[in-house]
Amino acid sequence: MNGFDTSGNEPYAPVRIFDTTLRDGEQSPGASLTVPEKVKVARQLALLKVDVIEAGFPAASPGDLDAVQQIAEEVGGAGGPIVAGLARASATDIDKAWTGVSGAEKPRIHTFIATSDLHLERKLCMTRGQVLEKASTMVAHAKNYCADVEFSPEDGTRSDPGFLVEVLSAAIESGATTLNIPDTVGYAMPGEYGELIRYLIGNTPGSDDVIWSVHCHDDLGFATANTVAGLKAGARQAEVTMNGIGERAGNASLEEVVMALYTRGDRFGLYTGVEKDRLVQTSRIVSNFTGIQVPPNKAVVGPNAFAHEAGIHQDGMLKDQRTYEIMRPETVGIPRSRLVLGKHSGRHAFKVRMEELGFTLSEEETIDAFNRFKELADLKKTVTDADLSVLARQQITDPEAVHDLKDLQVACGQPGMSTATVRLAGPGGTETAAAIGAGPVDAAFRAIDQLVGVRSTLIEYDVHSVTAGIDALGEVTVRIRESDSEEGRVFGGYGADTDIIAASAQAYLAAINRLIVSKRAVAAVGEPAKAQPGGSSRVGHGA
Ligand code: KIV
Ligand code: ZN
Repeated sequence: MNGFDTSGNEPYAPVRIFDTTLRDGEQSPGASLTVPEKVKVARQLALLKVDVIEAGFPAASPGDLDAVQQIAEEVGGAGGPIVAGLARASATDIDKAWTGVSGAEKPRIHTFIATSDLHLERKLCMTRGQVLEKASTMVAHAKNYCADVEFSPEDGTRSDPGFLVEVLSAAIESGATTLNIPDTVGYAMPGEYGELIRYLIGNTPGSDDVIWSVHCHDDLGFATANTVAGLKAGARQAEVTMNGIGERAGNASLEEVVMALYTRGDRFGLYTGVEKDRLVQTSRIVSNFTGIQVPPNKAVVGPNAFAHEAGIHQDGMLKDQRTYEIMRPETVGIPRSRLVLGKHSGRHAFKVRMEELGFTLSEEETIDAFNRFKELADLKKTVTDADLSVLARQQITDPEAVHDLKDLQVACGQPGMSTATVRLAGPGGTETAAAIGAGPVDAAFRAIDQLVGVRSTLIEYDVHSVTAGIDALGEVTVRIRESDSEEGRVFGGYGADTDIIAASAQAYLAAINRLIVSKRAVAAVGEPAKAQPGGSSRVGHGA
């Protein structure tokens, strides 16, 4: 086993990382992001050096189109990644996708149509001949706009391989440059998926002229295994999402695929251009924006991924790290928790350390984050790199502050009712409300509810500490569901403070601010910012 040193990339073949966090990932229930948030995630993905960003599905809604356009222009400039827009195999979808991505230096149109008999008969009501014709004409239509066209036969792993060969060779003839084989419903087993990829590469006329791509869902927990099996069989693009978020059980996770290829280079002989030491940072940013927690035991980026509890393991680690770690935490960007800054440090040193940790903040963001750092340094004896990372992520992922928490007082004890008084600065000026609740967090949330003018239901609340110690920063993630609309969209919020009640109030308010900003966007364009389950424009329901 190779263990640590697989950096000699020369004899290895490159694999393109196609990130679909903003498209398939954003289809996770409750992962609605606003347009500026999507642009920020895209910037982070560009820093991570993914090869392709699938920025959205422009035909889904005006909000999606807007996000794709902004990402194409702001992130897909010279030296940036390829920016792809998804389109069903329909001329109007493809026209919209082109409108979305055309501002990028390297635009791509990704079009798809289902090929399994089940989808043809029950969903599309089309014959194989009609699907073949549609795939071919729509790839040609996309090619009129764009040299870089990707084609996907949806539900590929439940399709007849012979028919797949026909459709894929027609797509190549019409100009497709990447052929992606989706395991749309996460049905395939690794050996089987690898065999399918090998069969298609070996039997599709023109296959040497295109890049083969893999796209796997995690319904049976095999998404990463299937992805690497497909790569081993000859595919050279992996479609993945950060933290593995995505439709239903999610997609293959970017960090797992990248680190599997790196750590087991001896088996794969493949490499990616991803900046691995930005993986954890990117994971947390995506989690903060979406409100979808990273499970403690999540491979590579989970809070416990490099924690050692058992005595035998700790003993081994002290003797030689390689006894119980196949990757180094620094490789994936886990801060080395050494004490570097204190309350007497200046802004310049702060900015430099932030940059060393991989956070590039604007001048304005640096000033804000520095003020938060000073407040923290007053409260905490030691400010570690882990604390600094929290401050930076908070700075980057804070939503537009429609309502700003100015003051929070709570009284609680056992037995007795908890009370909270909250002062918020909002569009109507500064207002104060008080409420009682089952506990201090409940009371604070009830007081906030009285002031914000929107109705929502708390569906998830999670708290954990960043470092050990009584003065540790507590991180809180909440998810709320909008309760006065039919869509019932879900919004996430994140807060961090040495006081967990304050962190909870910040997180709750962040989720509410997102909900309000999204409602305003919907009102401005007259349509939901994201198509909802069952809606005709959602991927997989109408191709
Ligand atoms: O899972 C799937 O089939 C997809 C396609 C649109 C590529 O996401
Ligand atoms: Zn998918």
